[in-house]
Amino acid sequence: MAEALRIGIAGLGTVGASVVRVLADKAAELTRQCGRDVVVTAVSARDPKRDRGVDLSAAKWFDDPVELAQKADIDVFVELIGGDEGPARACVKAALDAGRHVVTANKALLAKHGVALAEAAEKRGVLLNYEAAVAGGIPVIKTMREAMAGNSVNRVFGILNGTCNYILTRMEAEGLSFEDCLKDAQRLGYAEADPTFDIEGNDTAHKLAILTSLAFGTKIAADSIYLEGISNITQADIRAAGELGYRIKLLGVAQRTESGIEQRVHPTMVPTASVIAQVNGVTNAVAIETDILGELLLSGPGAGGNATASAVVGDIADIAKSRPGFQHGPVFGRPAKELRPYKKAQMRSHAGGYFIRLTVHDRIGVFAAIARRMADNDISLESIVQHADGKEALAQKTVILVTHETTEAAVRKAVEGVTKDGHLTSKPQVIRIERAE
Ligand SMILES: NC(=O)c1ccc[n+]([C@@H]2O[C@H](COP(=O)([O-])OP(=O)(O)OC[C@H]3O[C@@H](n4cnc5c(N)ncnc54)[C@H](OP(=O)(O)O)[C@@H]3O)[C@@H](O)[C@H]2O)c1
Repeated sequence: MAEALRIGIAGLGTVGASVVRVLADKAAELTRQCGRDVVVTAVSARDPKRDRGVDLSAAKWFDDPVELAQKADIDVFVELIGGDEGPARACVKAALDAGRHVVTANKALLAKHGVALAEAAEKRGVLLNYEAAVAGGIPVIKTMREAMAGNSVNRVFGILNGTCNYILTRMEAEGLSFEDCLKDAQRLGYAEADPTFDIEGNDTAHKLAILTSLAFGTKIAADSIYLEGISNITQADIRAAGELGYRIKLLGVAQRTESGIEQRVHPTMVPTASVIAQVNGVTNAVAIETDILGELLLSGPGAGGNATASAVVGDIADIAKSRPGFQHGPVFGRPAKELRPYKKAQMRSHAGGYFIRLTVHDRIGVFAAIARRMADNDISLESIVQHADGKEALAQKTVILVTHETTEAAVRKAVEGVTKDGHLTSKPQVIRIERAE
């Protein structure tokens, strides 16, 4: 049997401790599958005294993860600290420079420094595996990088943040407000104490940036992503969506267009009958549309110790099965030096259907004025519905418009016009509609 594969793990929190546990519990099975033992020989975290519920007695402790990366007797360095700079970046870079394979779950790090790290890995001929960084336990990286070779991707989109999907699911199922659902998500441990990163879409954007690079062979461009979170979604939107045959999801979408690649994260209306609309609660899903395969949808647990550890252990097992001299595939599917510059499609040229909810003064001529603004901008309407608004029924009305395919520029101009006309009693709501099977 080949020599044991020695693992060093930096970060022993939710994911790190789970990885140690899975590697111990499944040691015999992993040995059978990999043809060699996989053993944790070194670990690092901040607090050496904390009981992490796992046996670390056989592993050497390092206070400094960079020192572990450089000096420990290991073949694979596993980074489970988190963050796009600081110790996570320093130790991953140190491990690659020292010629060690790296496994990480760190989407923030890859979204910012992925290309440079991939170049470093490829220069040294080592692997940089990151299955857990996108959609937790769902094997989407492996699917796109390996199983879809030769396919040209047209669009990849998904529910990539469990916190947002949990909130939107409960808002719809129980008629609760965004704020109440967020509080529950925090109480249940689905959302951080500071949930901004999740609910404003940044976490989804990090994952989308990685998927875009894999899908289109372009450099990672997380800063070019159009970003809107879910904190403005109200019960009125959820109800109107339901009446019109849609469900609201926070989607990350990357799409090839004539003018470049669109990358956008925003609340999105998807047909209630579509497969992605059925993905509820903390579950994640990724849909990939290609020329050869057609549409594929993967769904499953996107976070949590066990699910994320499953992906990390899968990455470790791939390294255990590889052999010296075996030419590893490039980190982002193409050699990092050959990744094309990202050509951004302007958000203004985004084409699609739109949901527009307007709260207007209940006056004669308002309806006609709104219709005129739409027509002036060549927006053709699929439906227009108005209804009285609860207790203020005599004073204001809600008007809901659903457009046929139009452009973002036209919708922005039309809504600006309606706002200037002085008919609105509150901020207009605009939600993009996404085609989904
Ligand atoms: N949690 C999930 O469901 C999930 C899912 C997918 C991906 N991820 C990613 O996985 C990574 C880890 O997430 P997590 O939830 O496990 O985080 P976590 O529970 O906060 O754990 C972080 C760990 O890093 C250690 N650490 C922090 N600073 C350190 C330093 N300077 N030197 C050494 N160790 C240090 C901490 O040590 P102490 O324990 O001593 O404080 C802790 O063990 C992140 O990149 C995250 O984005 C997480």
